[in-house]
Amino acid sequence: MSKPDLKTLISELEGKLKKELSSVGNLKDLEELKIKALGKKSELYSILRNIGELPPEERKHAGESVNKLKTILEEEISKVESELKKKAGAEKLSAEAVDITMPGDYIRKGSLHPVAQIMEEIVEIFKPLGYSVVHGPEIEHEFFNFDALNIPGDHPARDMQDTFYLGKDTVLRTHTSPVQARTMMQTKPPVRVLSPGKVYRSDYDVTHTPMFHQIEGLYVDEGIKFSHLKGTLLYFAKRMFGQDTSIRLRPSYFSFTEPSAEVDVTCVACKGKGCRICKGTGWLEILGCGMVNPNVFKQVGYPETMTGFAFGMGLERIAMLKYKINDLRLFFENDVRFLRQFK
Ligand code: PHE
Repeated sequence: MSKPDLKTLISELEGKLKKELSSVGNLKDLEELKIKALGKKSELYSILRNIGELPPEERKHAGESVNKLKTILEEEISKVESELKKKAGAEKLSAEAVDITMPGDYIRKGSLHPVAQIMEEIVEIFKPLGYSVVHGPEIEHEFFNFDALNIPGDHPARDMQDTFYLGKDTVLRTHTSPVQARTMMQTKPPVRVLSPGKVYRSDYDVTHTPMFHQIEGLYVDEGIKFSHLKGTLLYFAKRMFGQDTSIRLRPSYFSFTEPSAEVDVTCVACKGKGCRICKGTGWLEILGCGMVNPNVFKQVGYPETMTGFAFGMGLERIAMLKYKINDLRLFFENDVRFLRQFK
């Protein structure tokens, strides 16, 4: 069998490669075909390599046809390549398409707990009157929680039922009043402080939890009178519950103040007419207060000529009245549906 001539060989190769090219469906297969058609091991390359064996008059012509086919193939391949790239790009785009009708994803903003908000609000109300904030420890020495506040050893407040004892003479503070004593022992008069924080009592029912929050106010200077206390509390009540709020003082007893009083505000629900919330009285109790007992001044080393007043209130109670919440436990369950309402 005689060897087919070069022309036939080249045109057969062209036909074969073009056919293969037309069935290539992706870039990877195209890359393989490119190597097969134009690479070092390709038929085209081997034809080119053997040109030297041809008679000289045929060589030029053979070289030209091989190069022509090479150019044709390169052009065809790059055409197919750009089409496949376009197709792949379009596929990628549609696969990554964003559905702009989907609902948005967002991060909810947190907010302060209602009790923390009330605390900040009270601090802001007293700031213009010159009060600054001080803190004391929650694990307290019996001396500051009781003795320094003129609570004698046989006072019912010392009863194990109310106080959490941690040791022979350390307790979880039962009120914020020990901070009064601590402050006076550290500072010379005049003193004007607020002390917010957690307090603990062994008590649990609908209106009592073993931990709750109080804020204490103390104003000590020469010439402080009961009328200053009353004026301060009226200002506070109006800022806290509205300008139409009145206050009422009822005589009471605290061992660290003398005289002492409990303070009521106009009922937030019925504005004083009398309703279920105020049990028909038109008033709601909000705090305890009084003139600092001279025995306390003696305990902390202040001169006996010193005068002052103190008041203390429960923050949860104020929050309950202000936001008309009837269950104390809601503040401690931390149900976000409840908390979200106080933004
Ligand atoms: N410490 C008192 C209580 O917990 C409140 C109070 C504070 C009363 C300051 C008078 C003066 O009930």
